[in-house]
Amino acid sequence: MSKDWKTRTTLVHEGSRRSQYGEMAEAIFLTQGFVYPTAEAAEARFVKLEGDEFIYARYGNPTTRMFEERIAALEGTEDAFATASGMAAVNGALASLLRAGDHVVSSKALFGSCLYILEEILTRYGVEVTFVDGADLDQWRAAMRPTTKAVFFESMSNPTLELVDIRAVADIAHAVGALVIVDNVFSTPIFSRAVDLGADVIVYSTTKHIDGQGRALGGVVCGTQEYIRKVLEPYMKHTGGSMSPFTSWIMLNGMATLDLRCRAMADSALQVAAALEGDARLSRVIHPALTSHPQYDLAMAQMGSGGTMVAFDIKGGKEAAFRFMNALEIIKISNNLGDAKSIATHPATTTHQRLPQDQKDALGITPGLIRLSVGLEDAGDLIADLKRALDAA
Ligand SMILES: Cc1ncc(COP(=O)(O)O)c(C=O)c1O
Repeated sequence: MSKDWKTRTTLVHEGSRRSQYGEMAEAIFLTQGFVYPTAEAAEARFVKLEGDEFIYARYGNPTTRMFEERIAALEGTEDAFATASGMAAVNGALASLLRAGDHVVSSKALFGSCLYILEEILTRYGVEVTFVDGADLDQWRAAMRPTTKAVFFESMSNPTLELVDIRAVADIAHAVGALVIVDNVFSTPIFSRAVDLGADVIVYSTTKHIDGQGRALGGVVCGTQEYIRKVLEPYMKHTGGSMSPFTSWIMLNGMATLDLRCRAMADSALQVAAALEGDARLSRVIHPALTSHPQYDLAMAQMGSGGTMVAFDIKGGKEAAFRFMNALEIIKISNNLGDAKSIATHPATTTHQRLPQDQKDALGITPGLIRLSVGLEDAGDLIADLKRALDAA
């Protein structure tokens, strides 16, 4: 069969494996383990798995394998490993690689739990971490050491939608032999060109756009076969962070519509951002596809899109922001993103509450900041909802 498939074909068919019944939909192999025909066969599988063999769902499962093959083909990596959540993926990608004495350089604009892993967990085991301003290439250059084993960053930061130049940081990292690990959640797998730009390991919370319907937690790490099977898999299978077969089935179904959903959501996000820009009740509107975004050119070169997120600052601080959120009718107050349902989040009091005030200030997480994940509703209805709620604020 030709594998010269375009994205949408890959998203529907790649990785499918059918049982002897020839089922149309991907089957859920809801089983913890597998029966061996003989004791010798069991012994042989524990020595080495051949082809389509499995031994225990913590190590791998046919449904999960379908999902891993599909996302690896989409991302353009040799392999992938699916995990129980996005945080299991971030932790696994870093902890499986690093040893005491190793050094990591990371952008400081990170999701709170990613920051916790770098600041609180890895340092406990003797890993040194230097935080830099992700957009400042001089800081990346200055932070590199001979012991730098990895760099880590969100390609588009949460919640202020700042981009890191993947190619430039990859060149700096590779010059000292460091691995480039990218949390690509906000960029989405559809607008990702991370591998072409030099990223070695790409991490997703599949809870976001890949499921896209708010049903299940999941994560995935994409990379070379050497990294996924020799570095990451031993860590994940022994520490228990694998994706469940049922979740893998949900993610497989999410993949089929991923391209259509991400493109529709990104189109609406730009319409929403353009409609909000210039509104006198807002002090700033952030979306990478607005020409006013300081990294507009980078966004177009790196993603060819502004993605599905918009952020804006309501004049009047927390009180006005809360009045605005409470007046929304279509858009829901929650903290996920990439969902079919549009979601408004107040980062300062929820996702980034843990950060001390000086860090919030440095990251631009102001009391009036709203993070909006634009869903699949009609863009005109969303704009009307936002304007109505701004009137109330
Ligand atoms: C950038 C980023 N990375 C990782 C995660 C963690 O994903 P999960 O909630 O699936 O563990 C999130 C969740 O919001 C995120 O925004």
